[in-house]
Amino acid sequence: MRFTAIISTLVPAFASAALTYNITQALAPGEFGKYHCLTTAKWNAMIPACVRQCQIQANKGDGCAYDDFACHSVNYQVFSDIIELCVFPPSLGGHGTCTLAELGAARPLVQDMGNFFNATLYAAYAGCPIKLSPLKTLGIVAKEQAKVTY
Ligand SMILES: *[C@@H]1O[C@H](CO)[C@@H](O)[C@H](O)[C@H]1NC(C)=O
Ligand SMILES: *[C@@H]1O[C@H](CO)[C@@H](O)[C@H](O)[C@H]1NC(C)=O
Repeated sequence: MRFTAIISTLVPAFASAALTYNITQALAPGEFGKYHCLTTAKWNAMIPACVRQCQIQANKGDGCAYDDFACHSVNYQVFSDIIELCVFPPSLGGHGTCTLAELGAARPLVQDMGNFFNATLYAAYAGCPIKLSPLKTLGIVAKEQAKVTY
C-alpha cells in the first residue's frame, strides 16, 4: 500500500475515537450509588464469573490506576483489546472461556458502567480512598470529541 493510502486508512480510525455517553442513562436513579467508589473487587462481584480474571488482567494492563474505572472507561481503545481477547472464546477470535450467553449478560453491564464513567468521570470517586490516575484520563479526554446523547 502507498504511504498516503495507509495514512488515509488510519486517520479516520483515530478521528472516530469519541468520548461517548448518554446523559439520561448516566444520571438515572440508582446509578451514582451503584458506582460510588467503584473498585475492581466491587465490580467483579457484579459481572459473570468468566470475566473476572480478565477484568483484573485488563485493569492491570491498560496503563490506568488499577481501580480507576473512569480511566478504564475512557481508555476503552486500549482496555477493550486486552479484555476482549481474554474473554472471547476461540470462535470469536479470543482465548477465553465465556459462553455467548455469559457475554450477552455482561454486555449491558459493561455498557452501563462505561457510559456512567464517560459521562461523570471522577464525580463518583470524590472522597473515596482509592488510587486514581486522573492525568492519564484527562489526557485521553482532551484529544477526543464528545458524542453526547440524551
Ligand atoms: C439515552 O438513555 C435513555 C435512558 O436509558 C434512553 O431512554 C434513551 O433512548 C437514550 N438515548 C439514546 C439517543 O440512545
Ligand atoms: C467511553 O468513551 C470511550 C472513548 O473515550 C469510547 O471508546 C467508549 O466506547 C465509551 N463507552 C461507552 C459505553 O460509550
